[in-house]
Amino acid sequence: MSSSGEAELLHTFKGIPFTTRSSPELLKSLDTFDAREDDVLLVSYPKSGTHWLAGVVTKLYNTQVTITSPIEFGDISKLEELNNLSSKRIIPTHLDYNMLPPNFKNKKCKMIYISRNPKDTAVSMFHYYRDNPNLPTVDTWTAFFDLFLKGNVVCGSWFDHFLSWEEHEGEENILFLFYEDMKKDLPKVVKAITLFLSLNISDNDIQNICEKSSFSAMKSDTEKASGDPGHTVCALTSNRKLIFRKGAVGDWKNHFTPKQNVRFEEIFNEKMKLSKM
Ligand code: A3P
Repeated sequence: MSSSGEAELLHTFKGIPFTTRSSPELLKSLDTFDAREDDVLLVSYPKSGTHWLAGVVTKLYNTQVTITSPIEFGDISKLEELNNLSSKRIIPTHLDYNMLPPNFKNKKCKMIYISRNPKDTAVSMFHYYRDNPNLPTVDTWTAFFDLFLKGNVVCGSWFDHFLSWEEHEGEENILFLFYEDMKKDLPKVVKAITLFLSLNISDNDIQNICEKSSFSAMKSDTEKASGDPGHTVCALTSNRKLIFRKGAVGDWKNHFTPKQNVRFEEIFNEKMKLSKM
């Protein structure tokens, strides 16, 4: 990775790398953020299926909702911008549980956490780093693999992020989802989301929403739409082509060497020994 690129594009807050699109002032002020009881949070480590989940959830609401950019992206004016929204807010975030504004926890806002096999997440993030000029340059997969395992990438360690949220999995206002389950049986997962959000949606409508949320449908919507940054949840790019890359389970097998796989498994088993996953 080019070190000058890194210095310009990333900074560290509470030990976690953030892009410079998340201003330190905003990050410091998150503790005082005023949550509303009907806010819905979409939580993920980057490249875990955030846009997919956001696509499904926004289609489920037929009343006016606003999907914001991630709460941690922007400068200090972000808080006021969110305060001024009159409609129901769907708020994405990549924050780990410990950094989440306490008001969301105190008000028991509904939160949906989506997770994905970290090997596929790493591969997806590698391509995102490589193709997105707003992220530091990585020269090779091997170099990125090391950065990912060390947690030296945007949003820090996958393991720390997952574990911070998994600790709260049983809480009634938190729904845990897996990308792989969505690939396997999307209608079943969407049904679970409707129950969690107390939305009354017919099986027919669920089926319809699932068809509109397939990878090919979302990718082709993207190709038809213009380059308005408001159309990507990830505020790091307005180029939606970077988001809808392959949409597959198991792409890691095309990138990991057998040696990398052994090393990943060792670290996974060590870090996740107290996890239920
Ligand atoms: P790949 O890079 O493996 O293709 P995020 O939205 O958190 O940034 O995650 C992006 C990843 O989710 C990308 O993975 C993208 O292709 C995948 N994705 C987006 N929409 C999807 C969909 N409808 N179905 C399956 N995967 C999807």
